[in-house]
Amino acid sequence: MRLEPLRPAFGLELHDLDPAHASALEAADLPSLLARHGVLLLRDRPMTPEAQIAFSRNFGALESHAAYPAALRHPQHDELLVVKRYQVEGRALRFGGQWHSDLSYTLAPSKASVLHALVVPPSGGDTLFADLAGAYAALPDAARERLEGLWVVHDLANGRQYGDSPPDAIAAMRAKSPPVEQPLVRRHPETGRPSLFISEWMTRRVVGMSEADSRALLEPLLAHTQDPAFLYRHRWRVGDTLIWDNRSTNHLAMGDYEGERVLHRCSLLGEPCGRPARPAA
Ligand code: SIN
Repeated sequence: MRLEPLRPAFGLELHDLDPAHASALEAADLPSLLARHGVLLLRDRPMTPEAQIAFSRNFGALESHAAYPAALRHPQHDELLVVKRYQVEGRALRFGGQWHSDLSYTLAPSKASVLHALVVPPSGGDTLFADLAGAYAALPDAARERLEGLWVVHDLANGRQYGDSPPDAIAAMRAKSPPVEQPLVRRHPETGRPSLFISEWMTRRVVGMSEADSRALLEPLLAHTQDPAFLYRHRWRVGDTLIWDNRSTNHLAMGDYEGERVLHRCSLLGEPCGRPARPAA
């Protein structure tokens, strides 16, 4: 396996790795390569659903998506989400259309995700990844000290796409997925590296701060995580697979395309992180 950085300090392309025939040594290396580099790319290796599931298991145990709406699931494999444009309950759903880290609004955020491209549009539909550990490391010392020990509320209903939802729909969403508090600075369980565990979609407020103070702290910090200095932008080709570590990266799916775009996603079960949110004072 030959390794090539996607960016100087973020992401790695794995050349000459056949996902169906990875040696035991190569397979054993994958989780630590992911933890150290945040994003891994395999180019031009079409995979069946079964092959993707088997490959994804190199990174750990897989989430079942059995409780997701049927429209989002693969008809034969609960381990696979089908990522495309949907209408769910009469509403257009743009999968991943705002910066986020998968399942950060739960007490067991996803460890990692494995996304495989089946159909890609002729242009647009790229996926962007933000290096949250790099963004943290680039902060001045005083800013890092100020953030230490802070908690933030992650709330699925914070998403822009729910902005015009009626209050009872938001209340139902919160009853199903109650907001949680996450450490603003999260230490990676494998590398120990700190990263900014915040995102535009999920992060509602800083615990214990007024609305105004919370906004004044979060807005520039969120903008910092989206600085091009910390981003990798992936232009998809059919047969590409991207694996990202949700504990140290955010991602964003661009909606700037016409035609079909279909990908299959496996999600890796993550370790417990965070605590139930308490009502704002
Ligand atoms: C996702 O957020 O998992 C989907 C990303 C994409 O469609 O590029």
